[in-house]
Amino acid sequence: MALTDARPIVTRRIGVPNSWTLQSYLDTGGYAGLRKALTMKPEDVASEVITASLLGRGGAGFEAGKKWSMLGKGRPAYLVVNGDESEPATFKDHMLIENDPHQIIEGTLICAYAVGAAQAFIFVRGEFALGLERMTAALNEAYAHGAAGRNILGSDFSLDVVVHPGAGAYICGEETALIESLEGKRGFPRIKPPFFPAAIGLYGQPTIVNNVETVSNLPWIVEHGGSSFAALGEGRSAGTRIFSLSGHVNRPGNYEVEMNKVTFRDLIEHPELGGGMRNGNQLKAFIPGGASAPWFGPDQVDMPLDQDAVGKAGSMLGSGSVIVMDDTTCMVRAAWRITRFFHRESCGQCTPCREGSGWVDKVMRRIEDGGGREEDLDLLFDVLDNIAPGLSWPPRQTTICVLGPSIPSSITSAIRMFRDEFLTHIKEGACPYG
Ligand SMILES: Cc1cc2nc3c(=O)[nH]c(=O)nc-3n(C[C@H](O)[C@H](O)[C@H](O)COP(=O)(O)O)c2cc1C
Ligand code: SF4
Repeated sequence: MALTDARPIVTRRIGVPNSWTLQSYLDTGGYAGLRKALTMKPEDVASEVITASLLGRGGAGFEAGKKWSMLGKGRPAYLVVNGDESEPATFKDHMLIENDPHQIIEGTLICAYAVGAAQAFIFVRGEFALGLERMTAALNEAYAHGAAGRNILGSDFSLDVVVHPGAGAYICGEETALIESLEGKRGFPRIKPPFFPAAIGLYGQPTIVNNVETVSNLPWIVEHGGSSFAALGEGRSAGTRIFSLSGHVNRPGNYEVEMNKVTFRDLIEHPELGGGMRNGNQLKAFIPGGASAPWFGPDQVDMPLDQDAVGKAGSMLGSGSVIVMDDTTCMVRAAWRITRFFHRESCGQCTPCREGSGWVDKVMRRIEDGGGREEDLDLLFDVLDNIAPGLSWPPRQTTICVLGPSIPSSITSAIRMFRDEFLTHIKEGACPYG
């Protein structure tokens, strides 16, 4: 792995011929973690994951071991693995699903064993046609090999795993909307708190929802021990993590790096990672953690890839997507495109999100198109404040899920950082970038 001595964990089979097949997986040490886990008590497996300080890779960064410990006592309990990945510029789970489905299945089985789940569901974004094909084929192979189903690998542990396709809505990646969708209903998020899925989830039963990359780490953690994982990275940001780097760099792509030991600058500039800005242009801004995250400027580029440091600085590592914008980028257009995405993907249950996203979309579009009015920036802040009162970080939530407040979080930071550029659009009645 570039920059530090740590070796890749979840991407170590990427590039191995036929890495998605059982034969290739077994040839590269596959199912050894599960085999070991089945010789351990479930609570000891869970305890290794707590030691590992494995932060969830789906967005919120909640510690996996801690989440498992909060699972309600009611039975049956379920496990749902979230492979819906629809956040703009996040494309790491897609890669894992297509290239290493057995690692996800093995991680799913280890998690289900540790928490005592009666059944597991792997929810894969519907548009991932190849991913769904490979995930389904891999699961069939796992059953035939005795690594799924009854008496797994000759043990007393039995588990059925179901691969379930998503149906094209970004909101179905939100864990409670996903659960509704799995239950065959429209993907509307549920109100939480008070009841998180760990208490009342799928079919009203205690449910763990974990991201594809999160569970992909489990075979390695069990095989090598939680402390080996915790020895990588620093503080709570332990282990390695995949960052989906996109935008104006020479080498966009997925890069697994040691957390906290690598900075955003390393990610953007290192020859084995982003390879520097395209055409030698200057960095204008970057989004550190997906479309919902507040933006950062060049003065924050030396910050380490540390969940807590980025949080304290007013943003988040979120889904691990780093979007880089150079000095040829129109910030009004970039911010408007994000707003438009959220507007289109709002499920419509909450008025501030449903109506507010539409207003912000329209006002930003008219500024970009040259029809902006002097009072438009105040109007935008007013509408944004109605979606998440106070415009603080983390945002105050008056909506059912955090999709609504994601709009003020990202767009407010863009307007604050590039106010002059917004005003130029309004004064000149046109986009200076053409
Ligand atoms: C609008 C929205 C979309 C989301 N989409 C995804 C997604 O595609 N994949 C994912 O793993 N988590 C997504 N999340 C986060 C999930 O709700 C949940 O926190 C996550 O799956 C938990 O897994 P983790 O603890 O392993 O990170 C989304 C959240 C929101 C609010
Ligand atoms: S915040 Fe938006 S996406 Fe979330 S439940 Fe409310 S309307 Fe739906």
